[in-house]
Amino acid sequence: MEDSKVGTMQNRRSFLKATATAGALTLPGIGLLTGAESVFASSKPTINDNDLAVLQFLAAAELLECDLWGQYCELAKNNEGFRRALQEIDESLPDYVCGDFEDECSHASFINAFLVAAGKDPVNLDSFRTLPSVPVEGAKDIGRLTNLTNLTVDTSYYERYRQHGNPDFGDTFEQIVTIKNQPTVPTSDSIRGLDLLSIAQSAAFHFAAIEQGGSSLYNSLITKVTSLDVVAILASIGPTEVYHFAVFQTALEGIRDLERPGGPEFPDIADRPNRGDIMPEPCSFLDKSFPICSVIRPRNTNTAGAVAAATGLVKSGLFEGQSQAFFDAVVALASAADSAIRS
Ligand SMILES: [Fe+2]
Repeated sequence: MEDSKVGTMQNRRSFLKATATAGALTLPGIGLLTGAESVFASSKPTINDNDLAVLQFLAAAELLECDLWGQYCELAKNNEGFRRALQEIDESLPDYVCGDFEDECSHASFINAFLVAAGKDPVNLDSFRTLPSVPVEGAKDIGRLTNLTNLTVDTSYYERYRQHGNPDFGDTFEQIVTIKNQPTVPTSDSIRGLDLLSIAQSAAFHFAAIEQGGSSLYNSLITKVTSLDVVAILASIGPTEVYHFAVFQTALEGIRDLERPGGPEFPDIADRPNRGDIMPEPCSFLDKSFPICSVIRPRNTNTAGAVAAATGLVKSGLFEGQSQAFFDAVVALASAADSAIRS
């Protein structure tokens, strides 16, 4: 075995061992999992190593989502200025944010509980909750996994879902707005007015960016799993990410022309020719010889798999300030998930 592969596996094992011992997860009542409507064939789910790798990466991804949406929800609920700025984009945006938070945390809890029920190690990232909260009204002073203060948001999904191209075939799409090294949450209580609206508009693009990534990730990984229970998990959680993406993409209709010193130059969505065009345009799919088809895109491993998703999040600055051990662990989990092959 290559040295790098050995190192990766050791990192992953030590990470899982360390996090499992620190875990506070409780084994769910097996009765809950074996009811009349359960898809389980037996009282204890059995999963192979490939399914395990996919579920452990997804558990980590969901814990990270739970953390970032938790920060957004806290501020959407308890920071009046941020809440009002979000409401200027869409009256219900604070509620959507907190609803998403609840969903993502439920995904993490469920996948970890399923892993425990299958006799496998759950994923616990608590030792990496080291990043500071923003020092503003409404934010709890607790350690975080993610950093929302210096994000580069890829907004290419906006045009990607409105055109016939597909990144799986090498197609690329322009940024509707350049959001580079920007906060998506208030970083000081002195930020108000249009400056705070600019932050909220960056956040609105980040909301949809996260969820389109989740949509593609589940789509990519579902072709790698074998157990029907695990297929059911991915086939049921994945569309929830799509549901979120659709909601947050719709909310972008409220983005208005805005430019602040040092901030992004937002276009007025109402002035764009494809405003309101939120249904996914048919695109190339599987093979260009087939008719174009309205689908989630991309879905290939190199464009939408675990490593691609993790790399995108790292490049966005979401983990700025995290330890090398954190990055090593995430990369190891992602590499293992992408290496899974249906058997
Ligand atoms: Fe999720």
